Amino acid sequence: MQGRTCLSIVLAAGEGTRMRSARPKVLHALAGRSLLAHVLAAVRDAGGTAAAVVVGLGHEAVAAEARRVLPEAEIHVQSERRGTGHAVLMAKQAIARGADDVVVIFGDTPLVSAQTLRRLRGALVEGAAVAVLGFRPADPTGYGRLITRQGQLVAIREEKDATAEERAITLCNGGLMALAGAQALDILERIGDDNAKREFYLTDAVAIACELGLKTAAIEVEEDEVRGINTKAQLAEAEAVLQKRLRQAAMEAGVTMPAPETVFLAADTKFGSDVTVEPYVVFGPGVVIEDGAVIHSFSHLEGAHVGPNVSVGPFARLRPGAELAANSRVGNFVELKEAKLGEGAKANHLAYIGDASVGAGANIGAGTIFCNYDGEAKHRSEVGKGAFIGSNSALVSPVKIGEGAYVATGSVITEDVPADALVFGRARQVVKENRAKALRAKAAEGKKKGK
Ligand code: UD1
Ligand code: CA
Repeated sequence: MQGRTCLSIVLAAGEGTRMRSARPKVLHALAGRSLLAHVLAAVRDAGGTAAAVVVGLGHEAVAAEARRVLPEAEIHVQSERRGTGHAVLMAKQAIARGADDVVVIFGDTPLVSAQTLRRLRGALVEGAAVAVLGFRPADPTGYGRLITRQGQLVAIREEKDATAEERAITLCNGGLMALAGAQALDILERIGDDNAKREFYLTDAVAIACELGLKTAAIEVEEDEVRGINTKAQLAEAEAVLQKRLRQAAMEAGVTMPAPETVFLAADTKFGSDVTVEPYVVFGPGVVIEDGAVIHSFSHLEGAHVGPNVSVGPFARLRPGAELAANSRVGNFVELKEAKLGEGAKANHLAYIGDASVGAGANIGAGTIFCNYDGEAKHRSEVGKGAFIGSNSALVSPVKIGEGAYVATGSVITEDVPADALVFGRARQVVKENRAKALRAKAAEGKKKGK
């Protein structure tokens, strides 16, 4: 593939009505990443040198997602849905600029691997003008059938246009197509709409290439590679396939997972060596786990950086901006958001640490709350190195607790505390000797009189 230029055209103008959602189909997520982002990642990894994304009218959010993932992608709007062949021609300018290979890929086929895209391009290297992916689904209903003659692909017939005999063919069209750049426009512009749906079918490119005396090729792949998403149920099936792949890759990289089927990963989750992930852990996007860390059961992590040998959970929640330095510990029912824990710092039970930085070796006692929100704005607090926050304390942000300071249990801290100070942020305990006994005696007397 080296030295060959490749234009990838991603078709994403569909409404996705069967998803029953206000959100455009390609913006639904698998493993914490949009369907469109999965496809664009495959395109990039397959060595694409240019990309065009065809979006529906008014689908500004789809265009924005495409630009976010692949800033160099050009966006073309298809204002009227007139078929896959019509959609591809929305990117006519890009095709006319000339590329060795043109790959057409659907935005709702997110499990396709870069390797499969490369195989498809490989057929062009071997002289084909049009190459498609074939697969044998358990149920071929709704798919185009690959028509072959003496082993040569001569046409693709959409189900609605197929004869009973053609419908009996089990080899179906995966939807993706590679076209030789030199012939692509000529072929695509010959596609008409003389068919059952009165649509311009991209699939007609195969028969047209044959009529022009050009070579075609079909490459058979696993169903998972070309699994299309049309419904929420298919979205869940694809999620299962992807999770299996991600767990496998994590274990191959050395992560210990006693019950991998209960762990949910994001497409971008990164693990160092000798990491353990216990059962029932969920990773949202943007998580990095460094060497030797242990993530205990029932923890939920998103946008978090977990340093070497850190212990998280069970039942911990790390939200975006949580950063745990080496050897720190976050225990059960502790939540962190936009908060740093220094080396060896501990928050072992029942705490909320939001918009804060906690110095190395500091101890955050059970029930500590960083009161970061006053109803209008968020404020940050700092806890110095080696400080000790006694149980059930409230730190009313913004406050600074100096290094080595000691906050007594049950304190409400509203002002800065100097280094090495001891602070009682609560009322002193008042003891009245024998008062309880006297009150009981009085009550008993009252009852007697009342009789
Ligand atoms: C298509 C293939 C069929 C194949 C199947 C595999 C054609 C004519 N048929 O059928 O042979 O078996 O995929 O899943 O290509 N799109 C646009 N604009 C349009 C029409 C479609 O952007 O005007 C996009 C859709 O958003 C979607 C993709 O193209 O991402 C495929 O369109 P869809 O209508 O789902 O094609 P199928 O009928 O499934
Ligand atoms: Ca489809």
